[in-house]
Amino acid sequence: MPENKNESKAFSPSLPMRQGNGIIIVGAQFGDEGKGKIVDTLTENVDIVVRYQGGNNAGHTVIIGQKEFRLHTIPTGILHGKRSLIGNGVVIDPRALAAEIRALEETGVKVAPEIFGIDSRAHIVMPWHLLCDAASEANGKNWRKIGTTGKGIGPTYEDKAARVGLRFEDLADEHALKEKISKLTPRKKNTLLHVLGEKEIELDEQQIFEDYWVLGKHLAKFETDVSQELNDALDEGKTVLFEGAQGTLLDNDLGTYPFVTSSHPTAGGACTGTGVSPLRIARIDAVVKAYTTRVGEGPLPTEITGPLYEELKERGHEYGTTTGRPRRIGWFDAPMMRKSAQYNGFTGMHLTKLDVLEGLKKIRICTHYEVEGENGKKYSTQIMPAQQKILSKSKPLFKEMDGFEKLSKQQWQSVVENARKKGLEALPENAKKYALELEKLAGVPLISVNVGPDRKDIIKMKNF
Ligand code: IMP
Ligand code: MG
Repeated sequence: MPENKNESKAFSPSLPMRQGNGIIIVGAQFGDEGKGKIVDTLTENVDIVVRYQGGNNAGHTVIIGQKEFRLHTIPTGILHGKRSLIGNGVVIDPRALAAEIRALEETGVKVAPEIFGIDSRAHIVMPWHLLCDAASEANGKNWRKIGTTGKGIGPTYEDKAARVGLRFEDLADEHALKEKISKLTPRKKNTLLHVLGEKEIELDEQQIFEDYWVLGKHLAKFETDVSQELNDALDEGKTVLFEGAQGTLLDNDLGTYPFVTSSHPTAGGACTGTGVSPLRIARIDAVVKAYTTRVGEGPLPTEITGPLYEELKERGHEYGTTTGRPRRIGWFDAPMMRKSAQYNGFTGMHLTKLDVLEGLKKIRICTHYEVEGENGKKYSTQIMPAQQKILSKSKPLFKEMDGFEKLSKQQWQSVVENARKKGLEALPENAKKYALELEKLAGVPLISVNVGPDRKDIIKMKNF
């Protein structure tokens, strides 16, 4: 284990939006950084929005004017009438998707094949995946409880890797669907009974086929080759926004395994999840919450407990969009952020929810971890260790900054208005200092600072 070798590097260049290029939006922490709002804001300037991983375990809340939209599978671009695609790296629960389409159409948002497309290769969440997800979590004694969203996402990716998954092209093909359901149902019953220790399993092959074929027929019109579309669009000089779900530390390879999701939210996932070359990407934007949150189990080194936790949870509405579970909260974790910046190569960052920290006397920032090496020697590091056995014994070292005053809604609005001319100078002095400190510690230039949930509560920097 190298000691203190990985110091944070100088700023990487932040690139303004260019035509004919890809922009990837990545959650830098554990998800729920406010990607929905950022994607939604950037969407005005792009031609296509594409989701590249995850499924309806994700949840974006987007507030436009008086309306609140909760999106789980469909890219946020749909709210702007922009071409919105689901890439091959995503998994789709057709029942949830159909319900989401219905809910959007009820609020007057059009979801037609001209605007919405699904890659043939995206995998399908089947009823047994939900049962397997629930059973593995409940029978944690067999393995380990992860605190999943219970949407069957992990088991669907398991089957994808095991090469026994159903893809969207199968759902839209009566013969393939029937054949695969009849082969898979007994196999899955077996797993549930004999591996996961369930007692009785309700999986009726005929019923599943009938239900899914109705959905297949209904959704078939959206089938497309997303990779081809994106490459054609990029060739024509169009701009594509790659919308990530979850966050970097939940990445199946790079996150806090095993407490991770089953896909790749990191920037690399945008390429494998859509069939676009890394050379097409011009910009990789981090979305970074001014503090840290996490839903479910797993390490959260800077975790806050007690009355302050309760206060921040309520003020920040820190409840999962998908499951309603309260999110755990921690102070900003710079060693984690630096690791995240390495994994993703962020060209800039959007800082979100800064307003939630208002009224605190002191704000803490974790700048280093104290870790114990294999020889038992303690040292401090600016970079989060990769080994979970070391991370679990790491102690966060904090510095304290002075807090900033509580502002009324009206006052926050004037901050945003004044910021059009004065930039970050419009912020309360200590809020500005805090934002600039995070920029420095992360080693990634700020693109925007967000001080409220609405689309207009955003301070855009020159490089936005
Ligand atoms: P799964 O993705 O449902 O398998 O859950 C695995 C882990 O990822 C759990 O800790 C979940 O709480 C977390 N997770 C999944 N989706 C999200 C998300 O959109 N935001 C935050 N956490 C998520
Ligand atoms: Mg979310």
